[in-house]
Amino acid sequence: MKKKLIAGNWKMNGNLAANEALVRALLEGMGDAACTVAVCVPAPYLAQLRALRSGSALEIGAQDVSQHEQGAYTGEISALMLKEFGVRYAIVGHSERRQYHGETDALVAEKTKTALAHGITPIVCVGETLAEREAGKTEEVVKRQMAAVIHTNGHCISEIVVAYEPVWAIGTGKTATPEQAQQVHALLRAQLHAATSHSDRISILYGGSMNAANAASLLSQPDIDGGLVGGASLKAADFLQIIAAAR
Ligand code: 13P
Repeated sequence: MKKKLIAGNWKMNGNLAANEALVRALLEGMGDAACTVAVCVPAPYLAQLRALRSGSALEIGAQDVSQHEQGAYTGEISALMLKEFGVRYAIVGHSERRQYHGETDALVAEKTKTALAHGITPIVCVGETLAEREAGKTEEVVKRQMAAVIHTNGHCISEIVVAYEPVWAIGTGKTATPEQAQQVHALLRAQLHAATSHSDRISILYGGSMNAANAASLLSQPDIDGGLVGGASLKAADFLQIIAAAR
């Protein structure tokens, strides 16, 4: 069985002092975690994280990556730059970037491709809004988002991580029930299976108000391979409980 992956997404939170306290508490509490653990931090803190994690099993992730290799793209951060800081993962296509930064399915697919080309594992986010769920369009939306990534990346998608993050569950305290999440994970699994013979390598994470209380039941579902955790990843005790639930 694959190791589960628990990735924290700090979003635009943190400062040097708070990061240090949080990471030290995580390193102390993680022990020999049964799962892979990563924190996806704001880019200015990557150097700090690289120093703090040194020699530990804590992996570092970024929250975005440019689709371009280098050049006149003010404000962008390239995969090569991320690599220099020991970054293993990059979140791609988070709903907050789709919503507030106009990221399209095609752009998300390109970013996925650039990350893969440089040996960074993209955590590709898909998920429906509340209006889409209520209109019965969940399957159509997540399949469309996934299909764009598959179309651009072909068999290389066996190297990605997928995160199903229903937009209505993000930061709202409203978690998808384990059954609701499992249903979508199973259809994503089938879609990936049809696209690559190595789909068993792909971890499909759940994200959206995952916390210490609900993690175990979500993670016990057959197609939920881990979590992408926002708010609860900013509190060491909560994040450590989620890590402990992932076995
Ligand atoms: P919350 O855990 O705060 O709902 O955020 C989820 C998320 O967006 C992770 O990427």
